[in-house]
Amino acid sequence: MISDKFIDQTKVLLFCSVMPGEGKTISACNLAISSALNGSRTLLIDGDLRRPQLANIFDTDESHPSLLEWLSNDKNTMMHEELVSQGIISNLDLITSRPLKEINPAELLGRGRLAELIEWAREHYDRIIIDSPPLGPVGDAQVLANLVDSVVIVSRQGVTRRRALKFALHRFDEIGTPVFGCIANDVKHSLSGMFGGADGYGYAYGYSGSYKSYGRD
Ligand SMILES: Nc1ncnc2c1ncn2[C@@H]1O[C@H](COP(=O)(O)OP(=O)(O)OP(=O)(O)O)[C@@H](O)[C@H]1O
Ligand SMILES: [Mg+2]
Repeated sequence: MISDKFIDQTKVLLFCSVMPGEGKTISACNLAISSALNGSRTLLIDGDLRRPQLANIFDTDESHPSLLEWLSNDKNTMMHEELVSQGIISNLDLITSRPLKEINPAELLGRGRLAELIEWAREHYDRIIIDSPPLGPVGDAQVLANLVDSVVIVSRQGVTRRRALKFALHRFDEIGTPVFGCIANDVKHSLSGMFGGADGYGYAYGYSGSYKSYGRD
């Protein structure tokens, strides 16, 4: 059972999953939008430097500074506010990202610039939601988990294996970051009894649309 005290103290949430395509990004976007609609000042950060999606989903200006520039800027010449773009509704701000090819994202994420950005965000927002790459193949999500209050594990029917979920729970236990909860995404009601039992996964990249069409305000 999750206590009220735990919820109150959970300001920075990381959305993660073990496999690709389980619905981390879409779930993080949905929670960020709900949170903003409920009146909480919400910041949604694209922590996936391997396959960033938020700029595409929210159709932000391509020339806007991204998390990548922030993390690469060791001289600290950029203001935090310069990074933030407005989301589609009041109370929702975004920090988008760009793909990183030359260096290991985990190394860049762990350098301290992101921790500093999150500390700034804690002062300015009620809720900070970070999207991440899958936990399985790369170490980025584990680095991110060290910087947040809690993680949300996303699972998807037909994609997630029970063993993978156990692996995630064990991994976060080792890191010492509490698991806020697990989202069962894309559950087909007629098959809900089979959830978690799939052996493989089918997954297509690409989003069917952008949130921009909803308009801000
Ligand atoms: N419940 C759902 N119903 C229909 N489509 C969904 C659902 N959840 C996710 N999708 C679609 O599945 C694809 C993968 O979702 P998403 O990008 O959110 O997953 P991800 O875990 O962030 O993937 P990655 O590991 O590549 O970052 C997207 O095209 C998304 O629109
Ligand atoms: Mg994603």
